[in-house]
Amino acid sequence: MNVLSRIAEAQRAIAARVKNFPEIVLVTGSGLAGLVDTLSREIEIPFGEIPHLRSSTVQGHPGRLVIGRLGQTRLAVMHGRLHYYEGYSMEDVVFPFRVLARLGASVFVLTNAAGALHTSIQPTDLVLLTDHINLMGTNPLVGKNYDELGVRFPDMSHLYDPDLCEKVRASAERTGVPLREGIYVGLHGPSYETPAEIRMYRMLGGDVVGMSTVPEAIALHHMGKRVVGISCVTNYAAGVSPAPLVHDEVLENGRKAYHNFSSLLSDFVDNLGRSHG
Ligand code: HPA
Repeated sequence: MNVLSRIAEAQRAIAARVKNFPEIVLVTGSGLAGLVDTLSREIEIPFGEIPHLRSSTVQGHPGRLVIGRLGQTRLAVMHGRLHYYEGYSMEDVVFPFRVLARLGASVFVLTNAAGALHTSIQPTDLVLLTDHINLMGTNPLVGKNYDELGVRFPDMSHLYDPDLCEKVRASAERTGVPLREGIYVGLHGPSYETPAEIRMYRMLGGDVVGMSTVPEAIALHHMGKRVVGISCVTNYAAGVSPAPLVHDEVLENGRKAYHNFSSLLSDFVDNLGRSHG
């Protein structure tokens, strides 16, 4: 069965349970888990109940799709995502996004945890992604191109939607939440980087590093969807500070940033909801 047929099956399974799939999809990375509990929920679908969709294995990323309202705005929250470092293929990693895109969602808010490449960005800072550098060693569009999804050689000049970025900046102003901006370096993982690698990524022009977001951003842009990315900085990357990196610190700083992150996202989604009727 080819990927289009698998997408169609997954799409039908969700459509049977959700009338009018929401236009806005929010992906909650590590630390943003609490946000899903603030939704007034309509339905919750564990990833395992969606045909062809694999379930994530990482601590802090239990996979489920929740449809509900954040404030006044109806949206879908992808609570947890698949990571390339878990051993899934790129096709598996981007599969859920393709399904939601085919269900009619048009705006994807991708959040993640990231390490800071220099000290002018600090743990608990929120960083609006203006671009990325794909160093995952591959690309989710490798292989046969399905014209039904998008073109063979999609342009990536404005991957992170400039208009949505502007709206995030406006939300930061309104809510008083400090917002930084920067370039996300997407890495394979799962080991954290060496200090020498981090120096290289800084020289290449990166501001934050992480192990997600890039595959789905590319696959969604390929499909003509609007993407916005926000990183929650959970740690200084290796060598930026003398302390060794521990996953618990990543989760802990994610929790500390939660209040600001949820205020910013709530305002953003609320305003977006109004403009999307
Ligand atoms: N490196 C890679 N991925 C990350 C980091 C990091 O320092 N922090 C959170 N995700």
